[in-house]
Amino acid sequence: MNFSIKKASIEYTSPSNIAFVKYWGKRSGQIPENPSLSMTLSECYTSMKINFTKAKRFQVKSFLFEKRENDQFKEKIYKKLILLLDMNELDYLNDYELDIESFNSFPHSSGIASSASSFSALILCLVRMESKLLQREFDLERVSFLSRLCSGSASRSIYPRFSHWGESSIKGSSNLFARAIDFKEVELCDSILVVSSHEKSVSSSMGHELMSLNPYKRTRYKNALDNFDKINNALIAKDFSSFGKILEQEAMELHALMLCSSPSVFLLEPHSLTLIDKVKDFRIKTGLPLYYTIDAGPNIHLIYPDSIKGEVLDFIKKDLLVYVQKVIHDKVGSGPKLIKEFYE
Ligand code: PMV
Repeated sequence: MNFSIKKASIEYTSPSNIAFVKYWGKRSGQIPENPSLSMTLSECYTSMKINFTKAKRFQVKSFLFEKRENDQFKEKIYKKLILLLDMNELDYLNDYELDIESFNSFPHSSGIASSASSFSALILCLVRMESKLLQREFDLERVSFLSRLCSGSASRSIYPRFSHWGESSIKGSSNLFARAIDFKEVELCDSILVVSSHEKSVSSSMGHELMSLNPYKRTRYKNALDNFDKINNALIAKDFSSFGKILEQEAMELHALMLCSSPSVFLLEPHSLTLIDKVKDFRIKTGLPLYYTIDAGPNIHLIYPDSIKGEVLDFIKKDLLVYVQKVIHDKVGSGPKLIKEFYE
């Protein structure tokens, strides 16, 4: 161990991701019930800087979110890190205190899950420091492994382009960490139609918990395995019509599962349903490959190849803007970036 580092500062940006095959349901130890597949975003990311100071015991001294002290986030991060320390992970933290600064590129409460980008950014900084101290290679699979323990979807955010997580038909797939997958020449866009920016009425941890008692869970886990293979094969073949069909089924299945859980959860808004109808109409009228997916919230992600961007932007402007609070235009991204590092 390199005991000589008294102070350090590490800054990363890490993106959010949108799942095409959804992770919904887990076993203890953050083991997913089914494999998931996602696209790494480009414009929606968290930027995080951690200042490390040598100390007698571990603590998160301060947490500034968008330049303001945020005790709620500080507590959340502290608890996750204590969990990792209890598992004998990132042991070196016992000798440092942390001052953390973070901000999100995407607007506050826009309904975009920030746990994937923020926890992956946190772990990227911490593993970078670990690799300096232990003089070992910086290992992305380790970053994914530890990010997964903080938030499942964070395990997928650390790779460029596309990622898969969970045991599947892909050789080398694992429940413990995600891996990159590059569908060559698949240049997809994600225009996020923000229908409501209210806090989610159900957190994803509660959603995963509800799945353990869901009467359709066996069928879901089987469907997810099939859908994973179908989406993977469709993207390899650049067959957007097969891809889109399964993409939409996945979104609907997620919401159907929530509807028939106990208690029942309904997250879509009337405008979400209108938007879905409009997208289907547009597709029938134009024959263009415009599809949607939805996470655990009311916002609609429009997924389409870059080649039809002009037509889709016109359509959004003319027919959809009236139903939404805002639109965030995103696309497939190149993964996290190390912005700065300094050791003393
Ligand atoms: O990583 P979590 O625990 O926030 O769960 C993410 C759940 C979904 O966003 C709905 C699906 C997914 O795979 O990202």
